[in-house]
Amino acid sequence: MSFPVLIAVAWPYANSEIHVGNVTGAYLPADICARYHRLKGRQVLMVSGSDAHGTPITVRADAEKVSPYEVYQRFHATFIDLFMRMGLTYDLFTSTHTSNHFQVSQNVFLALLRNGYLYTDHELQWFAPSQGRFLPDRYVEGTCYICGYTNARSDQCDKCGNLLEAEKLIDPRSRIDGSRPELRETEHYYLDLGKLQNRIVDFLRARESYWRPNVVRQSLGQILAEGLRGRAITRDLDWGIPVPIEGWDGKCLYVWFEAVIGYLSATIEWSKITGQSEAWREWWHTPESKTFYFIGKDNIPFHAIIWPAQLMGCGTTFDELQGSYPPMELVLPYDVPANEFMNLEGDKISGSRNWAVWARDALTRYDPDPLRYYLTVNMPETKDTDWSWEDFLKRNNDELVATWGNLANRVLSFACKHWEGIVPDPGELTAQDKELLETVESGFETVGNELEAVHLRNAVGEAMRLATEVNRYLDATAPWNIIKTDKAAAGRAIYTALRAIDSLKILFSPFLPFTSEKLNTYLGYSNPLFGTQEVETVQDELGEHMVLRYYPGQASGRWEASQLAPGTRLQSPQPLFRKLDVSIVVEERARLGKPS
Ligand code: MF3
Ligand code: ZN
Repeated sequence: MSFPVLIAVAWPYANSEIHVGNVTGAYLPADICARYHRLKGRQVLMVSGSDAHGTPITVRADAEKVSPYEVYQRFHATFIDLFMRMGLTYDLFTSTHTSNHFQVSQNVFLALLRNGYLYTDHELQWFAPSQGRFLPDRYVEGTCYICGYTNARSDQCDKCGNLLEAEKLIDPRSRIDGSRPELRETEHYYLDLGKLQNRIVDFLRARESYWRPNVVRQSLGQILAEGLRGRAITRDLDWGIPVPIEGWDGKCLYVWFEAVIGYLSATIEWSKITGQSEAWREWWHTPESKTFYFIGKDNIPFHAIIWPAQLMGCGTTFDELQGSYPPMELVLPYDVPANEFMNLEGDKISGSRNWAVWARDALTRYDPDPLRYYLTVNMPETKDTDWSWEDFLKRNNDELVATWGNLANRVLSFACKHWEGIVPDPGELTAQDKELLETVESGFETVGNELEAVHLRNAVGEAMRLATEVNRYLDATAPWNIIKTDKAAAGRAIYTALRAIDSLKILFSPFLPFTSEKLNTYLGYSNPLFGTQEVETVQDELGEHMVLRYYPGQASGRWEASQLAPGTRLQSPQPLFRKLDVSIVVEERARLGKPS
């Protein structure tokens, strides 16, 4: 069945480099699914960008005494570099600091206002008398009034995951100078979540059966237990998107309110860039469209409650403001497969203590596919997991190299050596040959179903199990021995193994795109499995911004069993993976800072 697929990926705050925990949490699973759905021939759009606004960026800029714009630009460039090298195929990776995103966000705000889902109210906010300014969100830390964690930020607690009401924080202190702020009254716009509560509950109930339990717990469970109250969606801050209402100078849209709108605005920006300005409606207005949101667990309430509420509240008014005809409602999230966290060598990853494996740095020593593989088999889908260098070494050497890489290499090399690089004609296949091919080809169903359900660990595990079956088949048929006495039988076994490898290449390709692409050429294909990535610069009223784009090129739906024909010319192969030396474990551990 074909349907449009939107792969919506968490927008990284442009205030620090990306570590392996972030990659396995959201960016890699998104790419695996995007590649899979593309192979299925579906219309896929994978979008995200840098989250450029709000206090995460300004706190860092203040500390460095540079502008928030400079901080955002610096990290945005590192993200693009990483995603390019890691093979994360965003159709568009942009930023929230674009005039398109400003305009789309303001239209969402105005649609909600017009439909009666916004109201203004006065609230008490932390204020620094010494600075003469308000201290929103991350500018204030203190003790969480729900779980007692002493380093909670005023808007969210990292320990219990709850969104907080700033003025209730216990023992508040300013991030700027440690002083105790005082409460002052200020006026803000609020999203009237209470008014939408029944619709949100219905929306969640309709998805409860297939969503991850943790996501259901942190959305439906929370609402049923506590109900929903209005949340302020503006801030006293000057770095961000202005509130599009006269007299609200000096206030901005709350970073979380506008960042999630990025999924919509980036789709619209992609449409504009590609010269088909209404194409975004394919993903946002087609009722069968499936939208997947790849995020870490700390983002659950924003994606499973607040963003759906924003979308519902827009009704058809967003289209009207946008000038899109006929005006329609926006598609609600299909799945929010949030991941838990990945720890490192038994301790919580901490950037400030350098207890982290930085993704760009790791790519200077390891190829992308082994990193992708380890981050997939160890993905924190149902519980927190741990990155251990010893385990990385083992998985690389025992699974990637020994089970899969060597299999592909020795079959291809053997065919090159004894059949002059031409796929042998097998004649009539035996029952044993057919059974192997059936087993491997069943993977298009089994691995595919796991991928549809975003069970990526199961999916890659199943592909590896099928590779083991091929090894077992070769042990049993032993073409390297029988070639001396029965070349035809050896040819049949090698043909069968080549077909199996050709199918496995596809089954592995969402996870291991670089090596599958190589194998694809060794197997004599000239059409690549996937398209290409490019870095480009876009000019708008706010200046220039760099974007990463994916060009599908000739690549198309290839999620089907190998049809490798006898007589096909092969290329002599290079090993797909490198065996790693045990010394890396000690070396890599020595590189780490101190655990937190
Ligand atoms: N910047 C947030 C984070 O890194 C994620 C934002 S996801 C978005 O946690 F959709 F809101 F942008
Ligand atoms: Zn807490």
